[in-house]
Amino acid sequence: MYDPDCTLPIGVFDSGIGGLTVLKALTEALPRESFVYLGDTARLPYGTKSAKSVTRYCLQTTSLLKERGIKLLVVACNTATAVSLEALQEAYPGLPVVGVIRPGAEAACRQSESGRIGVIATESTVNGGSYEREILRLRPEAKVFSRPCPLFVPLAEEGWCDGEIAELTARRYLGSMVEETGIDTLVLGCTHFPVLADAIGKVVGPGVALVDSARTTAEFVQDMLERRDICSTTTERRLTFLATDGAERFARVGGYFMHHALSPDDVEIVDL
Ligand code: DGL
Repeated sequence: MYDPDCTLPIGVFDSGIGGLTVLKALTEALPRESFVYLGDTARLPYGTKSAKSVTRYCLQTTSLLKERGIKLLVVACNTATAVSLEALQEAYPGLPVVGVIRPGAEAACRQSESGRIGVIATESTVNGGSYEREILRLRPEAKVFSRPCPLFVPLAEEGWCDGEIAELTARRYLGSMVEETGIDTLVLGCTHFPVLADAIGKVVGPGVALVDSARTTAEFVQDMLERRDICSTTTERRLTFLATDGAERFARVGGYFMHHALSPDDVEIVDL
């Protein structure tokens, strides 16, 4: 697609609305860039599915975004990054693709003083071990302790981000983690988790820094746009929201994630 002013949007996708935590950081860091966000809400969660299924879904979402015209792709989902990043890079060699795991690992390594780092994520992200590999690549002496917390995903999608149920769930998953592991940093290794940070923070306590990949991913994207010389030259930004199901729910809960109201009319339902 001919795009001399580099005004094509950046494509961003997740299994649902969790990736909006990354989109928010991207919109703040890159005020001139347009974005098209796709939440594959019809097939959420990805975190409990096989790598084969998740990769098939990711290839389909990327194909749709590519057809719409994008200049760069952000895989705003740790699960999809963990199992499908390489497949996407192979399938679309001309398209710059940025995942969220390397940025998240970098943020954690920068933050941690003791090198004892916890990672909470979906089952498949934890089982795949990508965070551990990335952290150890950057800090070989680090100790990484990973725990799957899959129930946080439907809580976030429901908008139950604080209060009794969120805290009880956090306590069930993480109640003994700090005592058992001595971590000083906890990676929120799923893009749905940052909205539950208050509940998680209450359980792990003030001695543990919570990090997520949103801001660091935005820095990676900015760097890649600059290196490839594809920064937008316009000041008129467009934000497009696509979902595979449930425009009303996407708008209701997504508005909370983005910190500004969204209407169901802002969300186009697409079929993959
Ligand atoms: N938000 C996704 C992630 O970052 C996954 C949630 C899910 O679909 O299980 O891993």
